[in-house]
Amino acid sequence: MTNRAHNFSAGPATLPLSVLEKAKSELTDYKKKGASIIEMSHRSPEYTEINRQATERLKKITGADDDWEVLFLQGGASSQFMMVPHNFLNSNRTADYIDTGAWSAKAIKEAKLFGNVHVPFSSKDKNYTRIPNSGELSYSDNPEYVHFTSNNTIFGTQFPAEPETNGALLVCDASSDFLSRPINIDRYGLIYAGAQKNLGPAGVTIVMIRKSFLEKQRSEAIPTILNYKTHVEKIFNTPPVYAVYMVNYVLEWILEKGGLSYFDTFNTKKADLLYNELDKDSFYRGTVEKESRSKMNVTYRLPNEDLEKQFLAEAAKNNLLNLKGHRSVGGIRASIYNACSIESVEALVNFMQEFRSSNS
Ligand SMILES: Cc1ncc(COP(=O)(O)O)c(C=O)c1O
Repeated sequence: MTNRAHNFSAGPATLPLSVLEKAKSELTDYKKKGASIIEMSHRSPEYTEINRQATERLKKITGADDDWEVLFLQGGASSQFMMVPHNFLNSNRTADYIDTGAWSAKAIKEAKLFGNVHVPFSSKDKNYTRIPNSGELSYSDNPEYVHFTSNNTIFGTQFPAEPETNGALLVCDASSDFLSRPINIDRYGLIYAGAQKNLGPAGVTIVMIRKSFLEKQRSEAIPTILNYKTHVEKIFNTPPVYAVYMVNYVLEWILEKGGLSYFDTFNTKKADLLYNELDKDSFYRGTVEKESRSKMNVTYRLPNEDLEKQFLAEAAKNNLLNLKGHRSVGGIRASIYNACSIESVEALVNFMQEFRSSNS
């Protein structure tokens, strides 16, 4: 019997047990080949098939057509902060970056190394507690793209839908909500996401790029490994084989469950359970504006920091793990990605109720 905790880690995060069990059963001998997939060439027929299948599944799940390419890269979403502007910006070009949190700010910092950056909205002065309405976005005249962070993992905010852009294509850091709900793929030129929250283990960064968007690539030289065209052409260097293998099984699981509409309903249900609890009285205080609340990372405070410490310690004793807020903001953060079960959220809500009655 597996002893699985209720794991609310922000990432690397909990994965579907069925996927972990499958990987475990195949770890030493993949498809009767007498070797682990970790021990095989990335040019082997076995890995080639995994890469093909994962690509096909991702396109199916997101509704991407043949204009889209799927890349499995290394370097984390943080590398994409640099790679996107390296490919698309120069001193004559401008991109618009919506600033809704620490990760957006990091993306902005990198983009400024390569070209002009216009920030159509920032909630920094509001401590990143809100997402803009479309009326609050003042874009530059003709941006190469509009970059946004769909879900702000640290602050617990999420765009309720793709921001309006006056026709410019979106580039999205979807690291912490990719495949958690349907997206309007036609609005995007590029989507990137570290796998370690909704998609699999750390080590692979999913990049979906539209070929017609890639045609807008800048003409100045780009180092080979950082050029998207290198990776679109072929698998250029050794990919993170085992991480892609795991992602492929998570994608299979997503499809079996019913795809993005299933997860939209499921994730909304889980988030509602938690937010309803926060809204009952003032013992727990949500940290962001209600309209901007994330369905992936639910952030809240208790009446004081001592109670927060006690809450975390007692929660851990009750098998409710990794609830500490990001070190830069403190408080509590429950990350409830696709693989977090409703039972885990119910267990947390029950614990919150008990903790409130014993401490208020
Ligand atoms: C929204 C977002 N963007 C980027 C990152 C950085 O990702 P990585 O550690 O894969 O570089 C994170 C990590 O938590 C994140 O949540």
